[in-house]
This record gives sequence, C-alpha cells and structure tokens, in this order.
Amino acid sequence: MAQPKVAVIFGTRPEAIKMAPIVRELHRHRDTMSTCVIVTAQHRSMLDQVLDAFQITPQHDLNLMQPGQSLSQITVAALLGLETILQAEKPDLVLVQGDTTTAFVGGLAAFYHRIPVGHVEAGLRTRDKYNPYPEEINRHFLDVLADLCLVPTLTAKRALLSEGVPDARIFITGNTVIDALLLTAARTHHFRSPELKRVNFSAAPWTILVTAHRRENFGAPLHAICHALRDLLVERPDTQVIFPVHLNPEVQQTVHSILGSVQRAHLIDPLDYLDFVHVMKQADLVVTDSGGVQEEAPALGKPVLVIRTKTERPEAVEAGVSRLVGTTRQGILEGVCRLLDHPGEYLRMQQAVNPYGDGQAAPRTVAAVRHFLGLTNDYPQPFESVLAGERAYASGRQPSSLAQEA
Ligand code: UD1
Ligand code: UDP
Repeated sequence: MAQPKVAVIFGTRPEAIKMAPIVRELHRHRDTMSTCVIVTAQHRSMLDQVLDAFQITPQHDLNLMQPGQSLSQITVAALLGLETILQAEKPDLVLVQGDTTTAFVGGLAAFYHRIPVGHVEAGLRTRDKYNPYPEEINRHFLDVLADLCLVPTLTAKRALLSEGVPDARIFITGNTVIDALLLTAARTHHFRSPELKRVNFSAAPWTILVTAHRRENFGAPLHAICHALRDLLVERPDTQVIFPVHLNPEVQQTVHSILGSVQRAHLIDPLDYLDFVHVMKQADLVVTDSGGVQEEAPALGKPVLVIRTKTERPEAVEAGVSRLVGTTRQGILEGVCRLLDHPGEYLRMQQAVNPYGDGQAAPRTVAAVRHFLGLTNDYPQPFESVLAGERAYASGRQPSSLAQEA
C-alpha cells in the first residue's frame, strides 16, 4: 500500500522559518510517510534566504512574486498554480502555516480538492477584521476549513473553542518558531551581511533592533514610527538603531526617505535568518510590528516594544516581556525612553521566558499529523505553558466546560 503523503505549502519568509522544523521532522519519518514541499514564492529573495539556511529544496516552486503585487494577484496566481500541483501530487493532508495569502489559498486549494487541511499556528486572534490586515481574516477562514488545528498555546485553543471548533480537532504544540530559534541561536556565528559587519555594536550604549512591514501600518502609522525613531536618534546620542528594511516597496520608500540620512540609523537589507537571530542576541531592545519577532525576542531575553495597536500574541504581554506602544510618534518615543531610563523596568522585561514553546513543537506537530493519518494510536502530550494564567486555567477546568462557556 502507498505511504500517506503530506504536502507542506508555504510562500513567505516567516512561514518558511516556522515550517522548516516541521519539514525536517517529517523527513525523519520517511520510512512511513512521504513529504512534498510546495512553495508559492510569494516572497522570492526573503524566502530563498530561509530555504538556504535550512537546506530545503522544494519539489514545486510556483515562483509567483511580482514587485508591488496586490492581494488579488497573489491570490489568483497561487490558487491556479496550487490546483495543478495538488491534482498531480494527490496528498493525504496539506499543511499550511499562519495567516498569509499563501497559507489561506493553500488551505482553500486543498479544500476545493477535498484534501484535509492542517493549520499550523491556528487560533491567533485580535478580533479586529482590519488589524492585522489581511491576516486576521485569513486565519479565521483557515480555522473554519481546517481538519486539524495545531495551536501554539492554550490561549489560542481557547479562542478556537469559543468559536465552536470541536475540541477533538485542536492540538497544542507550542510554536515551531522556538524550535528554529533554539537550533539557530546555539550555533557559533559570524555575521555574513557586509552591512552588519560594518556596525560597531559598542558605538552607543543602547542598540535597538527595529523591523516593520505590516500593511495596516502603511501611510500615517509607518511615517509616525519612522519619525519617532528619528526623534530618538536625534535626542539620544546613547542610542543606535539597526533596521533591516523589508523589501516591500512601500516600506523601503518610507523608511529610507525619513531615516536615510539620520546618524546612527543603520538601514540594511533583510538579513538571512542566522544573521538576524545573532543580531537579536546582541541587541538591547527590539521594536517591531512583526509576529515572529514578538515570539522570538522574549525567548532570548530581549524586551519587545510592539509598534501596533493590537496584538494576537498576548502571551508575551502577559509574561511582561513585551509591551504595546501603539503607532503614534509621541507614544513610541515615550515607550522607548521610559525603558532606557528605568533600569528596574528594563530588567523586569528582560527576564527570559518562552511563552511560545520549548523547542519541541515540530515533533508534537508531526505526532499529531501521524495520529490524524492513522499511523499511530498514541495521542501526543500537548505543550504545557510556562504562564501562570494558562497553567491555572489548564489545571482548573476541562475543555468541555470552556466550550459551554462560549
Ligand atoms: C507578507 C504577508 C504578511 C507577512 C509578511 C512577512 C500577506 C498578505 N502578507 O507581507 O502576512 O507578515 O509577508 O514578511 O500574505 N518583496 C521582494 N522580495 C521578497 C519579498 C517581498 O521584493 O523576497 C517585495 C515585492 O515587491 C512584493 C512586496 O514586497 O510584491 C510585498 O510582498 P507580499 O508578500 O505581497 O507582502 P508582505 O508585505 O511581504
Ligand atoms: N527575520 C529574518 N531577517 C530579517 C528580519 C526578520 O530572518 O531581516 C526573521 C525573524 O527572525 C522572524 C521572521 O523573519 O522569524 C519574521 O518575519 P516577518 O517579520 O517578515 O513576518 P511576520 O512574522 O510578521 O509574519
């Protein structure tokens, strides 16, 4: 009898980073199941950086990226491209990750072919349709059609139960981003980026790592973010900023026009994952609107200021290692200065906790996949949170009572 086949679909940098440990783990089970990696290449160079770092060679590459692509363009091209591949490969399960257009369309294409869908990093919510945009709706859609919801935390599981997703469909894995991070952070590394090699980390007492790319921040919020950073660098000679600028033309244009000639603003190209993790280790503070970076930085003991008005990652805020500072010029400047000027607050935020995982999310994910495919009767042990609130909840009440509550 033919082995069951799992198709792993992704297209952007963060999906690739979070899928890489799963692909590796699936390959470890090649004696009982086969794996097929399909990339849409919604991102090109930023995706290729990750494929290189984790030595993944996709079986199919749709090579979709166009400069300044619209959401409709990626959606249509990915849906048509994936249809042909799924018809040929006939997988028994499609795995998609997160909330990008590729993830949503990958799930939709599988559904159209009646192929079961596993959603990695299911259950993240802000409950605001346009924030983040379009991701909040993408992940909603995916959790409606997914047959297996692989949630990173109990908070995410509770969100799905409150929406009526059956308990039996949900499995808590932790986030695979921590698997990737722990593997990478432990390695000795010398920076490869020529721009990064030129940065003197001792040039200022405070090195602040910044990333920004969210669509809902385009326009006035991104301008305010950049002006806040400019104010900071002008007012505070004790700071320097390292800002790997996302390749989205909208981001490139705004960031370079406002910060391009500001002293101690190091605007550099997107870093490969190894460089980025190791620069994060050296930074004193992270300012970001990224989802993945909100999860990684706390695990490295780096305080995170989130330049958004809402986050679907409340666990780090609850743990006290990240804080929402919004998207106003004054609010961001005050948020950063407050931390720099209050050592006690900084130390409290610096406490290293991993609310998102323990490095074993990929083995749990694949164990859940194998259970789903009938390859094992053993139900894997779920990830247990380090957060007091989640632990109390988990020990206090059973999931069935949660469902009733909803
Ligand atoms: C996408 C995801 C977002 C995710 C982000 C991670 C959607 C709708 N958005 O946003 O959820 O947080 O990726 O970074 O799925 N570009 C390049 N080279 C690259 C990558 C991008 O030049 O390697 C430029 C291109 O001009 C491209 C543009 O960036 O058209 C936008 O890329 P796109 O994937 O549409 O959106 P992101 O803003 O990157
Ligand atoms: N990252 C990277 N190089 C960079 C910036 C970020 O490798 O220059 C990694 C980072 O470690 C994290 C992921 O990219 O794992 C986050 O991707 P991004 O912020 O683009 O997307 P999001 O997580 O917001 O969807």
